[in-house]
Amino acid sequence: MENNVFEQMANKYDTEERIELAKVIVKEVRPELRNSKSKSLIDYGSGTGLIGLDLSDLVDSVLLVDSSKQMLEVAKEKISRKGIINSKVTYADFTEETPKLKADIVLMSLVLLHIPDTKKILRELYNVLNNGGTLIIIDFDKNDKVNHPKVHNGFSHESLKKILSDVGFKSIKIKTFYHGNRIFMNQDASMFVTSSIK
Ligand SMILES: C[S@@+](CC[C@H](N)C(=O)[O-])C[C@H]1O[C@@H](n2cnc3c(N)ncnc32)[C@H](O)[C@@H]1O
Repeated sequence: MENNVFEQMANKYDTEERIELAKVIVKEVRPELRNSKSKSLIDYGSGTGLIGLDLSDLVDSVLLVDSSKQMLEVAKEKISRKGIINSKVTYADFTEETPKLKADIVLMSLVLLHIPDTKKILRELYNVLNNGGTLIIIDFDKNDKVNHPKVHNGFSHESLKKILSDVGFKSIKIKTFYHGNRIFMNQDASMFVTSSIK
């Protein structure tokens, strides 16, 4: 797992480039969350909360979940500095053990690529969702220029759709929404968003 890497980078994670990329992601996801004022959202692999905290005004509650305590410390500090009253953090790694949590929406932004067993984590997220709940994933499209032993080099739409469907998700939508320079391990890359219903 990439944990140690993320523990070490937590205090320096919010660079200008990452903040800019997060803004692009937030802009894409916000319309998906219209009519979600009564809903609970889990941001899985939230990091410092760049995405989840910028969605907190659209939902009833946000739980930032991460397997890096340092990332969560940074997120906690932001929550108190910004006076956000409906957001909390919790430490967990669902690939090891999934706590008894439930949510109406699970969001996972730029995390799936760091988890070796895609089907297993999607199964865990399926179990965490309430019936009728929505899973939203943002990640990189398959990219042959990227090659790293611990990171998936993105995902093809067809293979991810198949895994989501095998896990039990319905109404699976997936689209590429952004192309950027040097955004994936220093390579030009594109990002997709997928939403599906339990
Ligand atoms: C690239 S960062 C993305 C942070 C945030 N979602 C964003 O888009 O700005 C990946 C995050 O996933 C977390 N992570 C990696 N593997 C994880 C796992 N198995 N369970 C929970 N979090 C994990 C890391 O600690 C890190 O905070």
